[in-house]
Amino acid sequence: MGLRPPPDQDVVVFGASGDLSARKLLPALYNLSKEGLLPKRGDIVGAAPVTMDQEAFIDFARKAVRTFSRTKPTQRSLDEFTRRLRFVSLDPRENLRDLRAALKRNRRLVYLAVPPSAFTSLIHGIGDSDLADGTSLIIEKPFGHDLESARTLNDAIHAVLPEPQIFRIDHYLGKETVQNLLVFRFGNSVFERVWNRDAIARVEITVAESLGVEQRGAFYEQTGAIRDIVQNHLFQVLAITAMEPPISFDAESIRNEKVKVLRALKPITPDEVVRGQYTAGVVDGKRVPGYRREPGVHRHSTTETYAAMRLCIDSWRWSGVPFFVRTGKRMAERDTRIVLTFRDVPLHLFQRLGVRSVDSNRLVVHVQPDEGIAVTFVAKVPGPEVHLQDVKMSFTYDSSFKASPPEAYERLLHDALNGDHTLFIREDEVERGWQVVQPVLDAPPPIVPYRAGSWGPKEADRLVEPLHWHNAHVGDAG
Ligand code: BG6
Repeated sequence: MGLRPPPDQDVVVFGASGDLSARKLLPALYNLSKEGLLPKRGDIVGAAPVTMDQEAFIDFARKAVRTFSRTKPTQRSLDEFTRRLRFVSLDPRENLRDLRAALKRNRRLVYLAVPPSAFTSLIHGIGDSDLADGTSLIIEKPFGHDLESARTLNDAIHAVLPEPQIFRIDHYLGKETVQNLLVFRFGNSVFERVWNRDAIARVEITVAESLGVEQRGAFYEQTGAIRDIVQNHLFQVLAITAMEPPISFDAESIRNEKVKVLRALKPITPDEVVRGQYTAGVVDGKRVPGYRREPGVHRHSTTETYAAMRLCIDSWRWSGVPFFVRTGKRMAERDTRIVLTFRDVPLHLFQRLGVRSVDSNRLVVHVQPDEGIAVTFVAKVPGPEVHLQDVKMSFTYDSSFKASPPEAYERLLHDALNGDHTLFIREDEVERGWQVVQPVLDAPPPIVPYRAGSWGPKEADRLVEPLHWHNAHVGDAG
């Protein structure tokens, strides 16, 4: 993270009394404040359609920071942070006059932490109250719910703000381990030269969560795993894994390379997609209900809580290499990883010595938890006979840096305050993401059940046959 405080400006959080604000935004702003990385001069103005006075908002923020901050708050830094806080009670359908009056600076970062249904009226409100000049807008996902609505939303925003003032957030890009992929690939000559179809047989990307839909059932019913994770988080991780070296590390060079990968993705056919939904089971030793019994969920819901698909990137580098991606809620463990499996050795030298098979080499990027990177290879078990065993070389953030990576939202807020677009999604990326999944949204394959606490439906195993998915603790050597 750069050490300069960003230029003076206010920060406005729409939806300031909500869940995202409490869990992520206020704690991230607090930690930036503590590290001297907020603008020297600038208020943090919370706005929400609730009756709340300044004192109540400050109490809300203190509680949020105490509960969710990654660092233990001190009284002094908490007081310093809350001195910046203001609150404006407003209805998003009304004029933003009161908000405008509360802003003291010509420049501001506006965060839309509100349900997607409120995006358009707030954006119009920004235009109608003469706030467009000097506003940088952070807009949360989901950005639309299909290709057409994403285009409509892009048009509505562009009617008020030009693209350089827009920051479409995907918090996966703020994760240290995802950014480190760029350094790992392009800062180490040893890996980049085997990062292609000549050496790699297949790539697998998993975003598994052990959590269910929690209190977000009503929202999730309209969303499902493909819209919630595949179209954004998974495609962004895939784009960074598969992109060509950019000519520089500036925002446009990186985003140009990412969008090329998304453009090279062949349209997905529904028969290469598995949609699952969790039933009751046991997660982390506790019995949990099935998705259809969660609050806010329809008893006969056909919303997917799991999706797996086979993707092909039609490019010189990746032609013929399958990319398997999957995501699910209520899986056996929280585990986000990228697994690159290398081609087998050409000659089975060890067969005559009684060794039946030699495992392929793998490179595993542990995005979260236990952040790090591991390479597996076979070694000879010491002794007079030839026995082979998978072993691994690994790097973890914990052992090398004695620290766990900072919160994604801190990095992203700081970048947006500095006007840096590198880790935000451009208009063409978001639209191309929708275009790729649109055939599945139009003709979704039927839902299949999987038990909460498992690794997903057995139908997904068929996608990767004759091989198997690399689940946590199964594909790990050593
Ligand atoms: C959000 C999704 O974007 O990402 C949630 O809406 C999901 O459904 C979350 O739980 C996962 O984020 P993380 O950082 O915990 O992997």
